[in-house]
Amino acid sequence: VSEGLVDLRSDTVTRPTARMRRAMAEAEVGDDGYGEDPTVNELEARYAERVGKPAAVFVPSGTMANQIALRILSVPGTRVVAGRSQHMVAYELGAGPRNAGIQFHPVDDKAGVLGPDALAWAKEAERHHQPPVSLVCIENTHMASGGIAWRLEELKELDRVADGLPIHMDGARLFNAEVATGVSAVAMASSATTVMSCLSKGLCAPVGSLLAGSEAHMAAARDERKRLGGGMRQAGVLAAAGLIALDEMVNRLVDDHLRARRLGEAVAERWPEKDVDPKRVESNIVVFHHAGANALLAHLAEQGVLCGTIAPGLVRLVTHHDVDDDDIDRAVRAIATAPDEERP
Ligand SMILES: Cc1ncc(COP(=O)(O)O)c(C=O)c1O
Repeated sequence: VSEGLVDLRSDTVTRPTARMRRAMAEAEVGDDGYGEDPTVNELEARYAERVGKPAAVFVPSGTMANQIALRILSVPGTRVVAGRSQHMVAYELGAGPRNAGIQFHPVDDKAGVLGPDALAWAKEAERHHQPPVSLVCIENTHMASGGIAWRLEELKELDRVADGLPIHMDGARLFNAEVATGVSAVAMASSATTVMSCLSKGLCAPVGSLLAGSEAHMAAARDERKRLGGGMRQAGVLAAAGLIALDEMVNRLVDDHLRARRLGEAVAERWPEKDVDPKRVESNIVVFHHAGANALLAHLAEQGVLCGTIAPGLVRLVTHHDVDDDDIDRAVRAIATAPDEERP
């Protein structure tokens, strides 16, 4: 994207920082296929500690981390309970059923969380001719609901109802959840059997995600990574950026959250009839319905503001390291002059 545009399409558009680029150039490396890349080993240990798990595996993408979790925790021919609009269900091109031989049991997640009643219902359905449930997947923060973070009590309640079923947490933006709620990633991940986080979104690393869990699960995860073609060699050049992402880029997420709140206020002001409550914008994502979404996107693009849609008529704005207060001012002005919703 050319300079001068305000790019709110996603936090994946962030570019590595100057410090990351230097660290990448100087990274100590080895063959990770032999477990000999010291920088990868350090990154895996750092993330495991950061989320309170015994071990972690570095993988090329968040999608691969989710797919590995499905393959090690679920059982082919069973149901996996997950929110209808979660990334694993709606945005991974059918990878879960294809890679793990499962069927999703999608439940309502408009509020970002999975209600324990929906899980209880899904489990009870086993006694009514439906396949067993082998896994529960949740997303924290939950992208499609507008970056909502799970509360600790909600996680504990889900865990109680899961009653021994494994839980995988897609924490692509777990550190946004940590900053938004003030609850540590360790505490949030304690109800999860496995947890994954992306380094390449708001944390600005160019590539990479991590999956964490028990030693045994991570040994299985390494094998699955290889099967999926995700084994890497001198991946320390990537892990070096990942270490900076974890160590230096988390605290600044609060700035992204404040800026997203301003965007939420602008949307609420322009369309007061909408159900966008700026107080509910607690992380870096604003999602709202707009019947003329395509015309709206075109109007914003004319003003130099890029954003996208995640479903028909569902507009998404995402703040990140590479947009500043002036960029948000510009986006706010563009929203204020946006066409009426009725316009085709
Ligand atoms: C919630 C969530 N999970 C998983 C992913 C997948 O990450 P990746 O794009 O690295 O495969 C994304 C990002 O697109 C996401 O938003």
